[in-house]
Amino acid sequence: MADATSQNWAAVDALLADTLVGHDPALDAALMAQQAAGMPDIEVSAVAGKFLHLLARMSGARRVLEIGTLGGYSTIWLARAVGAEGRVVTIEAEAANAAVARESIDAAGVGAQVDIRVGRAADVLPTLVGEFDLVFIDADKESNTIYLDWAARLGRPGTVVVLDNIGRNGDILDSESGDSMVQGTLNALRMLGSDPRFDATALQTVGVKGWDGVALAILR
Ligand code: DHB
Ligand code: MG
Repeated sequence: MADATSQNWAAVDALLADTLVGHDPALDAALMAQQAAGMPDIEVSAVAGKFLHLLARMSGARRVLEIGTLGGYSTIWLARAVGAEGRVVTIEAEAANAAVARESIDAAGVGAQVDIRVGRAADVLPTLVGEFDLVFIDADKESNTIYLDWAARLGRPGTVVVLDNIGRNGDILDSESGDSMVQGTLNALRMLGSDPRFDATALQTVGVKGWDGVALAILR
């Protein structure tokens, strides 16, 4: 049996991506453009991108809200799920990132489905009108509870809410952590567990992005 090392997690992840996801010129180009622009490689993995895409299709999502566009990688996965009449509204704080994402999304052929709103999500969210069928939260972890609150306000019973990066290499075990991202993540998990608007669970993940995880909720 292979040892449970981060190297082997990544190798298995690559095998799964090769076997189940394949390679796609538009997605590969989006990653290249993101890297060339100096953005960090913190986009979702290929298997996670397809997971989001399938969740959107399984739930029949036509209106998707994404908080945290980065280079548009997950945005493209989501946009491919909503159909010709569907829309993804995606919020990005950095105008330079949004410009790169816009090009990649257009080049992927889903430009008509994607509305990028540039600004701090806490400022943009109050300007949006629901209802959204699926909300993917993948931005600054410190604001996760604010984003969950907006997801609940802009959704409807049955809306799917996905929150990225809930594992943080196990750092969430340290409830006294001085890392504000860990505290933001812990607060979000507590909210998902206690706020009656959500019915939630979470899965840890290992792979090319290390040891992390994703929370999944439905709005009551
Ligand atoms: C970080 C953010 C992410 O959205 C992610 O997927 C991984 C890491 C971060 O800010 O550290
Ligand atoms: Mg993330």
